[in-house]
Amino acid sequence: MLKRNYRLHELNESLIDKTVIINGWVDRVRNLGGIIFVWVRDRYGIVQVLFEPETPAYEIAKKLSGEYVVGIEGIVRERPKDAQNVDLASGNIEILAKKIEILAESKTPPIYTNRDEGSEDVRLKYRYLDLRRRTLQSNLIFRHKLVQKTREYLDSLDFLEIETPYLMKSTPEGARNFIVPSRIKRGTFYALPQSPQIFKQLLMIAGFDRYYQIARCFRDEDLRADRQPEFTQIDLEMSFVDQEDVQETVGNLVKYLFKSVLGKDIGDVPSMQYQTAMELYGSDKPDLRFEMKMENLTSKPFASKLDFLSPRDGEETKMIVVPKNDVLSRKDLDAYSESAKSSNLRLGWAKFHGTNFTGSVGKLLSGLTSDVKVGEDETVILCVGKKHEVSTFLGKARVEIANKIGIIPQNTFKALWINDFPMFEWNEEDKRFQAQHHPFTMPYLEDLESKPDDLSKIRAHSYDLVINGWEMGSGSVRIHTRELQERVFKLIGITEEEAKKRFGFFLEAFEYGAPPHAGFAIGVDRLVSVMVGVTSLRDVVAFPKTASGTDLMMDTPSEVSEDQLKELGIKLEDHRS
Ligand code: AMO
Repeated sequence: MLKRNYRLHELNESLIDKTVIINGWVDRVRNLGGIIFVWVRDRYGIVQVLFEPETPAYEIAKKLSGEYVVGIEGIVRERPKDAQNVDLASGNIEILAKKIEILAESKTPPIYTNRDEGSEDVRLKYRYLDLRRRTLQSNLIFRHKLVQKTREYLDSLDFLEIETPYLMKSTPEGARNFIVPSRIKRGTFYALPQSPQIFKQLLMIAGFDRYYQIARCFRDEDLRADRQPEFTQIDLEMSFVDQEDVQETVGNLVKYLFKSVLGKDIGDVPSMQYQTAMELYGSDKPDLRFEMKMENLTSKPFASKLDFLSPRDGEETKMIVVPKNDVLSRKDLDAYSESAKSSNLRLGWAKFHGTNFTGSVGKLLSGLTSDVKVGEDETVILCVGKKHEVSTFLGKARVEIANKIGIIPQNTFKALWINDFPMFEWNEEDKRFQAQHHPFTMPYLEDLESKPDDLSKIRAHSYDLVINGWEMGSGSVRIHTRELQERVFKLIGITEEEAKKRFGFFLEAFEYGAPPHAGFAIGVDRLVSVMVGVTSLRDVVAFPKTASGTDLMMDTPSEVSEDQLKELGIKLEDHRS
């Protein structure tokens, strides 16, 4: 085999007139009759190789096409000045081929490997070809660097990387668990971890003080662009700390990652209360790269003059102001009015022209020009209804409109902490409260004492890291006494008996000297996505699943043999549903 003595990024002018051997894939071939030009690609770069006619190498090169794997020996030459390619790192040199060996042939690939186009389904089916694309390669290389820098940073702070099991017990963390049947104990099941939450707390109880792990997590939940059924966290936990300590550590880690991997200074990470975020942005993950904050008009003196937009009993009227633009049409705005109606909200919009308004509530607002604060050619959107619904509706509209009119600066990163989430949230399906973060989170004890009957009012010592409108990570101060843990389980409807059965070991551990502790987990897939500027996690995961949880390449999930099922003692009822 012609075995390389240079990788492609190592080729440069200093090698002119030297003989080199390279290996790689044929990226493209141009046969100009007299001469054949071949671009050869490896992980590191691309180089142009030329084959002169009437040489043995030329005869072999005639057979080449895209994705053939080759070994080529040749002489490095300077490219003629007018043929230099500034887009290639090796663009001012080329290789004059002397020998070539075809190491593997390739069928015509079903997708382009040198262009970002084509059906995603085909790309996922031929993921190993898709992964040859430069963009995916550079995303995964970026991800690798980020993980290395994370290890380096946390190691420097005495965090210990400790692995925790994948086969565990089902935990109440919000999503469904994937379960794994046991062969040896037929009829029993393991669950795959939604996160290493319980283990990392046990590691604190065991005295490891500072733990981290680049942890794989598994959740059987509805998938979206920012969710994969298996994903990776930078998971960490610390003992004898409070919320500020964890936020300082995580904030510094994130700043270090942006600086060392992306070369970006993101500055200090400000904090905002959950309630404030909902009030101003209608979201617990506000995108601070643009303004368009909500204004609450409910208690303004002119609120009663807003006709159908006036707040009725228990309602709120809120407004966003859309900056001057030529993109947002009457049709777009009317569509918001319609969609508000279907959410039991009332919405009106108007554009200000300096002296008067036009739009669905133009006439109404023209009488209130001194009250409604808006600049010339800006559009106001007013929405009224139940507090939470109004906020989330306008919050969503805020982001959609900002995207549509193109006011969100790219390559800018705005991180912030959202603090003091509610401890509990109402689950309409199950008609009960559940922990909003997870039930191991420390509630505000003063709230628990003063509002024991209204679970929705109890705050938690929990916090999210948000970057550019993405929930990048979550964490909390933990409960570390059995009594409080049992009380919280009870509040979310886990009976004493059930708690004992599912978490007896954990509750017991609290009785042997559990230190105060707190922690955090950053979603690696999301962090890398935001940093490299993609909107789907699939672009930063080597072998991702589709929105329906399928691996199109392996065709999983798939059936297993009757024998396997029998061994596990499993009988399928309707395996095609
Ligand atoms: P949480 O469930 O909020 O907290 O998860 C932490 C972070 O993990 C990422 N994440 C996901 N990424 C991709 N696909 C998913 N399906 C997915 N689900 C979550 C997000 C999220 O912010 N054990 C706690 C952390 C703690 O309290 O220390 C936990 O897992 O970026």
